[in-house]
Amino acid sequence: MSEDVKYVLDETRLPTHWYNLMADLPTPPPPVLHPGTLKPVGPDDLAPLFPMSLIMQEVSTERAIEIPEPVREVYRQWRPSPLYRARRLEQALQTPARIYYKYEGVSPAGSHKPNTAVAQAFYNKEAGVKKIATETGAGQWGSSLAFAGAFFGIEILVFMVRVSYNQKPYRRAFMETFGARCIASPSMETSFGRQVLAATPDSNGSLGIAISEAVEVAAGAADTNYALGSVLNHVLLHQTVIGQEAIAQMELANDYPDIVVGCTGGGSNFAGIAFPFIGAQLRGGTRVRVVAVEPAACPSLTRGRYAYDFGDTGKMTPLAKMHTLGSAFMPPGFHAGGLRYHGMSPLVSHLKELGLIEAIAPHQTPCFQAGVFFAQHEGIVPAPEANHAVKGAIDEAIRCRDEGVSRAILFNLCGHGHFDMQAYADYLAGKLTDQTYDESELAMALAGLPSVPGTA
Ligand SMILES: Cc1ncc(COP(=O)(O)O)c(C=O)c1O
Repeated sequence: MSEDVKYVLDETRLPTHWYNLMADLPTPPPPVLHPGTLKPVGPDDLAPLFPMSLIMQEVSTERAIEIPEPVREVYRQWRPSPLYRARRLEQALQTPARIYYKYEGVSPAGSHKPNTAVAQAFYNKEAGVKKIATETGAGQWGSSLAFAGAFFGIEILVFMVRVSYNQKPYRRAFMETFGARCIASPSMETSFGRQVLAATPDSNGSLGIAISEAVEVAAGAADTNYALGSVLNHVLLHQTVIGQEAIAQMELANDYPDIVVGCTGGGSNFAGIAFPFIGAQLRGGTRVRVVAVEPAACPSLTRGRYAYDFGDTGKMTPLAKMHTLGSAFMPPGFHAGGLRYHGMSPLVSHLKELGLIEAIAPHQTPCFQAGVFFAQHEGIVPAPEANHAVKGAIDEAIRCRDEGVSRAILFNLCGHGHFDMQAYADYLAGKLTDQTYDESELAMALAGLPSVPGTA
């Protein structure tokens, strides 16, 4: 086996197609429903929000979907991203495990989010759309769409979850540098925002609320579309460049993962690294254990119900069957803003139901502890979201040590934490607490799930 630290592909190895897991699933996920008729949504129902090319990707069962050349051209600014062998971390842990991480923090926004932002901006531009409204939690998605909007000449409006907006002023400046407008959500700019503020003037906001605001703006203006940074099939599809590159890079390392780990907010970076490996397994290849790591304070996969629910708090979106804490659930304001979402991607939820993935939900302080340990040995400060994946990988490596077994562990280091240093400062000052949600609020949010006959 090689002694290399980095496995780098040249630009000619950039994937030409996105990989669509729908083609290899033993059973398809349940359909997305119109909230009024409770019938499966059709392309026309989604047309006020998305360009038709993305709607067709949303329902496609084709295994390989060609990446348009203008999208690949922009990808080349940072892709293929490097795969690292965490040799220093392995040494520090005294583990026989072989730890690899795919580093998506090399993108312009510092995370995996540009992989879909660039594609979504391209297809919207192609459809003649002038403006896109969106939400952002950590600020990574808003930053990514701001950058992609600047490249393709589209105006971007970002509703940023208030708790993150207050924690990360430089994310707003970053978005504005690319010409985007960034507003704290809930805001006075939409009727749903005003409604939330009237009821809870000091609302922290949530991704569910910010989505409602962005959808309201997009649905009310003919020249404006909506874009989502996670959850939807087409978003997960665009992220599969990560796992496809990782497969080629693991080949360079002459190795193959036994375990694949990713953090999960809405499921997109996890899908990006994991789906190509799960697809290979479903087509008869090597079996991999796939572990999703979600926050204990917002544990949709481990504590949520698998049920039809709205994707947003204002109940403006279609109904998707997913692991959900209820669209009215308000997660506590912990530091991984990108993981504060009440639901989980329907495709990732479906995989959990099929037993093809596992999920764990650690608290934030052990995740920061893992992230700091990782930084001290590998030199990269991870995003607070990514710390969940670091924690999952380190736990597996320690298990290898305890069992005296060498396994290959691959995880997605989905972003850097350079805009998240306040979170690290709080952690280092001993100010971070392990927030838990209120059980009675969760029960209330679950009791409010929409009733869809015959789908319990
Ligand atoms: C760095 C980072 N990781 C993870 C996430 C969670 O999103 P997803 O589960 O779609 O990857 C976010 C979301 O904003 C993020 O910014």
